[in-house]
Amino acid sequence: MKPLRVALLGCGVVGSQVIRLMHEQSADLAARVGAPLELAGVAVRRLSRKRDIEVDPALLTTDAESLVTRDDVDIVIEVIGGIEPARSLIVAALSRGKSVITANKALLAEDGGTLHEAARAGNGDLYFEASVAGAIPLLRPLRESLAGDRVRRVLGIVNGTTNYILDKMDSTGASFLDALEEAQTLGYAEADPTADVEGFDAAAKAAILAGLAFHSRVPAEQVHREGITDITATDVASAKAMGYVIKLLAICARSDDGRTFGVRVHPAMIPRTHPLAGVREAYNAVFVEAESAGQLMFYGKGAGGAPTASAVLGDLVAVGRNRLAGTRGPEESTYAHLTVHPMGDT
Ligand code: HSE
Repeated sequence: MKPLRVALLGCGVVGSQVIRLMHEQSADLAARVGAPLELAGVAVRRLSRKRDIEVDPALLTTDAESLVTRDDVDIVIEVIGGIEPARSLIVAALSRGKSVITANKALLAEDGGTLHEAARAGNGDLYFEASVAGAIPLLRPLRESLAGDRVRRVLGIVNGTTNYILDKMDSTGASFLDALEEAQTLGYAEADPTADVEGFDAAAKAAILAGLAFHSRVPAEQVHREGITDITATDVASAKAMGYVIKLLAICARSDDGRTFGVRVHPAMIPRTHPLAGVREAYNAVFVEAESAGQLMFYGKGAGGAPTASAVLGDLVAVGRNRLAGTRGPEESTYAHLTVHPMGDT
């Protein structure tokens, strides 16, 4: 069977785990897809950098643009993050009929429409399970398993760094800055922790979740956002004394008449008896309420190389199967045209 050829953009924490898993599980993956998956090239910023994994030097290139447009590439995995050059590279690949897997929440939230339109035009797939809550199977359940239901509310702890910080403050009485330093040492925070602590990372994820839950396109700037930098050890202790815990929540909620919805990210006091209150350290959890399904809870590791690579590999198998079958996964569903309330209210 002719192999499916995969181009990888980025060889950092996630990219190196993708290479490891593709290598270690190559026989299983080939059996599951129906054809071997072969690495066609790995685009990196610098050829000589020390990496978490040994990569065949012949596969490394700094010319990502040529790699994604090569005729022998079927599938592109983008794990470089940021808006540019990721957007141009993804659009270039999709326009040439390749399928793309991305973990890029910021890009999907800012300009997901452009990516989806390029996928439609090129007749390829755009899969992005790893963009929200790392290893937790969440986007496919929202996009597929709940497609016959009506989602009312999504409440999520979708940023591991801030959950780690708030959990440390709650369990040890630590200050915000001490807890942040610990989260950075453990490698949970983004390179610039502003994205985590000011809620930008969670807001991008909330925009993606709301889009899928409510079949609408939700630009990131329509997400009302507040971070956790003003939360003090005293706030956390007072909440604790009253039987509450402070969590940074992403809240996507439909109004009672079903015509509008709000998307917001802010610290919230939740009762210690709520299932989200027990989410400790850097774990993520998303609580979904749907009309027929009722309450659902998704829980697991939302960050880190191997957990995020697990979601990427799941997409790789799905996309590979689709290509062999000559089909595509589900289109972006934006039929609803619901109004997004500017302050995130419902
Ligand atoms: N910095 C992010 C987090 C990584 O802490 O959740 C995963 O998106």
